[in-house]
Amino acid sequence: MAVHHLLRRGVSGGSSIRGILLASQVLVLAHCSCGHTGSSIFIQLSFSSPAAQEIGRRPLSSAAAGDAAAELRGAREDVKKLLKTTFCHPILVRLGWHDAGTYDKNIAEWPKCGGANGSLRFEIELKHGANAGLVNALKLIQPIKDKFSGVTYADLFQLASATAIEEAGGPKIPMIYGRVDVTAPEQCPPEGRLPAAGPPSPAEHLREVFYRMGLNDKEIVALSGAHTLGRARPERSGWGKPETKYTKDGPGAPGGQSWTSQWLKFDNSYFKAGSGPSSSAY
Ligand code: HEM
Repeated sequence: MAVHHLLRRGVSGGSSIRGILLASQVLVLAHCSCGHTGSSIFIQLSFSSPAAQEIGRRPLSSAAAGDAAAELRGAREDVKKLLKTTFCHPILVRLGWHDAGTYDKNIAEWPKCGGANGSLRFEIELKHGANAGLVNALKLIQPIKDKFSGVTYADLFQLASATAIEEAGGPKIPMIYGRVDVTAPEQCPPEGRLPAAGPPSPAEHLREVFYRMGLNDKEIVALSGAHTLGRARPERSGWGKPETKYTKDGPGAPGGQSWTSQWLKFDNSYFKAGSGPSSSAY
């Protein structure tokens, strides 16, 4: 099922609504692959709908909703400024993905089901092997969280990720907000819900992980295209080279090995490049 269909079904039928927590961040990547326009996947989810409350969304009065919208707009402007000065687009995308990608559609109870719930701000989860280096993304985002304290971490991570994609030349993602943060490290998901790099049976492993989120083969491929942005760093994930001619001067923090030559540009080149951190191309 394409992600936008999952979203539609979630809103109208309620059966898959938890998928929204993940999919609002990642849908644009899937939508890029199947050619649907942003408007065809636009979702309006009332802050006070019963379905929203069921998944831990915040019911708000209209005045409070106005304040929340102003805070979200302010946070988005500050994320844009941050991107212009630090070129941290890729790591912000990875931050949003790793907070969301712990989602398990088979677990009904929130927050045990994982997903975009801000749990990645806690040290215990940042220390999961798959999250190596993401503490740097949190450090960049924390001042914005401090300034716009009404915006939850969960929303801010997804907002930052979507804004980074847009600012890197990708599409404007129609976002929905109102995610609730977990409040304690005990509510973090167990380690091992995110995909591993280089498992013995990659296809089997990816299917296991992404099917658990309610995503299909097409969506796995589309989402992997996010690696059109960014680099792998040996000192973080253990993958990639310390630097290449494409990364040694930055922009932003220099080093690492990218999947594409223009690793700050959101386009289709990951699928054309046919290379990765294990090759010597970039
Ligand atoms: C399909 C399974 C996936 C695997 C095995 C995987 C693995 C990795 C690894 C090993 C890195 C390097 C991290 C580092 O050394 O700093 C990385 C980076 C990255 N990943 Fe993935 N990833 C997957 C899916 C995704 C998805 C679904 C997204 C987003 C929708 C994504 C977005 C990114 C981005 C943007 C970076 C670059 C981060 C940076 O430059 O700091 N990845 N990924």
